[in-house]
Amino acid sequence: MEDHRHAELEQKVRELSTLLEVSRVINADLELERVLRTVLDQAIEVIQAEAGTLWILEEGGAVIVPRVTAGPVTSNILQVRLQPGEGITGRVIQTGVGDLVTDAQNDPRWAGRVDSATGFMTRSIISAPLTGRSGTIGCLQLVNKRGDRFFQSSDLDLLTALGAQAALVIENSRLLEETRALARSLQEAWTGALDALTAALATRDNDTQHHCYRTVELAVLLARRINVPEVEIPIIARGALLHDVGKIGIPDGILYKPGRLTPAEREKMKQHVRLGYDMLQHIMFFRDANLVVLYHHEDFDGSGYPLGLKGERIPVSARIFHVADVYDALTNERPYKEAWPHERALAELKNGSGLHFDPRVVTALESLTPEEVDWIHTLQSFSTATRDLLGRSIRYDHRP
Ligand code: C2E
Ligand code: SIN
Ligand code: SIN
Ligand code: FE
Repeated sequence: MEDHRHAELEQKVRELSTLLEVSRVINADLELERVLRTVLDQAIEVIQAEAGTLWILEEGGAVIVPRVTAGPVTSNILQVRLQPGEGITGRVIQTGVGDLVTDAQNDPRWAGRVDSATGFMTRSIISAPLTGRSGTIGCLQLVNKRGDRFFQSSDLDLLTALGAQAALVIENSRLLEETRALARSLQEAWTGALDALTAALATRDNDTQHHCYRTVELAVLLARRINVPEVEIPIIARGALLHDVGKIGIPDGILYKPGRLTPAEREKMKQHVRLGYDMLQHIMFFRDANLVVLYHHEDFDGSGYPLGLKGERIPVSARIFHVADVYDALTNERPYKEAWPHERALAELKNGSGLHFDPRVVTALESLTPEEVDWIHTLQSFSTATRDLLGRSIRYDHRP
């Protein structure tokens, strides 16, 4: 009697440590295959079975397949496919209720397919449902208790607890996979949309899309140089990309005018920041970037437009981009002006430091190496890093 109680207690401790071990693995790692194998191996070990299989419902519930298996005839079992409702496994999955079969060979519910495929002699079977949030998605099944004994209902209780853990892992892993697939398809859609958008923006400008590439890359370079937090970088890049999207609403007669604008034309032209802002303000993805669109013509001393914001009240993203924009306008040809060399443009920006421009950003521009300046002026596309950055979502970010 004393011996029996001792053995029982020992068994309980093993059960508990098994559950703990399985939870630890689950928390430590979501690698499905490895975790499911651990669950099965631990179940076989602690319940003392000869073999076991973890079955899961695949193809939207159309077929039951063995996901991992352990025992003398594992490779044969892996070929087996079951229909929903077929055999003990099929029924456990259908009903969500575990099953204990002490004499399998004489049980009418035993479809016998696994045995005929494997040549393995099944004496007794214990099958627990894998039940998670979305219902029963599989079955954890052990075959033949070691030492000529039968499985008991306490074995089924433990197996059911392990089955619930396994179900959780499978569901989490599927969710993660779906999220990754979604992120991938969003990324692809975004890259396509980006190319289309860049081309569309370029048709409105006097320049080619190289203007887009240059201002975006320069703004990112300047932002990094003044140590803007990394989360702000994609916002600045997207704002830079779209900064003049509102020019689409400016009449061609003004936008493409070869000479200087009249004061009335100039007022009309200034509306491009508000027009752009209004176009984008309902797109969640561009919400923060839209501040660059609205404020990229604000001046540091408060003399800019549309609001006349001053100094630090101008979002840093807009202050950075303002410098990149004017530098690009100066160093390239416009309908109304010639292209200036780098040195002349830099001198103009330094003149405006503290007046039109944030001095820190002008200093950052000044600190660019000749190689960096050259790189900006010869860009033929976005760099891979920037292309990736432009599509990066802050809210739906995922880390592989
Ligand atoms: P944009 O050509 O892309 O120029 C962007 C900004 O670069 C200008 O904003 C201005 O701050 C700066 N910038 C451009 N050229 C010069 C320059 O020769 N000297 C200096 N110091 N800064 C310069 P801004 O002035 O608010 O102009 C916004 C947009 O209005 C310009 O975009 C351009 O499309 C149009 N625009 C401005 N002035 C004229 C003009 O005289 N003639 C024509 N046709 N368009 C103009
Ligand atoms: C089972 O039903 O539990 C095993 C598969 C079979 O029916 O052969
Ligand atoms: C111009 O007005 O000629 C160009 C833009 C500026 O200097 O502000
Ligand atoms: Fe602008």
